[in-house]
Amino acid sequence: MEFDPATLATPVLYQHLIRTIMPRPIAWVSTVSNRGQTNLAPFSFFTGIGSKPASLLFCPVNKRDGSPKHTLRNILETREFVVGVVPFSLVESMNLTSAEVPPEESEFELAGLKTAPSVRIRPPRVEASPVSFECELMQHIPVGEGPGGGNIVVGRIVHFCIQDSVLNSDGYAEPNLLDLVGRLGGSSYCRVAPTFEVERPTVRRTPG
Ligand SMILES: Cc1cc2nc3c(=O)[nH]c(=O)nc-3n(C[C@H](O)[C@H](O)[C@H](O)COP(=O)(O)O)c2cc1C
Repeated sequence: MEFDPATLATPVLYQHLIRTIMPRPIAWVSTVSNRGQTNLAPFSFFTGIGSKPASLLFCPVNKRDGSPKHTLRNILETREFVVGVVPFSLVESMNLTSAEVPPEESEFELAGLKTAPSVRIRPPRVEASPVSFECELMQHIPVGEGPGGGNIVVGRIVHFCIQDSVLNSDGYAEPNLLDLVGRLGGSSYCRVAPTFEVERPTVRRTPG
């Protein structure tokens, strides 16, 4: 079937995107408002960008009334955020933090999650998350406007922490120890295991 996005309603288009662009890693983003209120929410339109500078991006879409989500509002106020990752053991807590609550309530409390202080920035980490990237806002790029409009939030990673318990003997995070989840469409998720190896191709030159 062929589709012309211009002829589809915004919610239908959104469903097509989240049911085809997958599995998606989940950025568990903690922020604080100017008044010091903490906020925590998951975002699966998320990826790394490059390592010089170390950078990542995630994409909060505008709410149904066209206004920005609290996460974006806080980042535009303070220019700081932490991105945590979500192992299988925390998937229910992560889901709770996607609830729409008033700005004066913290999703940390709602989900019974402990905070841990960050090293370089004000927003706290999710203590139980095995990886935390402390970020400063580099760029906010609105993509469209109003309900369904997207936003690219580009963060410079100024510090990060990987818990010792998920490191292998080479000092890198081990996928099976991390046991992260990916988001699919609707309320479906996947786990990383079983993993498999595919070697990168080597360039072969034809003789002569
Ligand atoms: C696994 C998962 C992934 C999500 N990914 C996104 C996303 O990429 N972009 C988005 O705008 N909302 C996403 N959401 C919805 C937000 O988490 C939700 O709107 C939340 O209430 C935003 O909180 P805030 O207003 O405190 O920022 C996701 C929810 C879940 C459960």
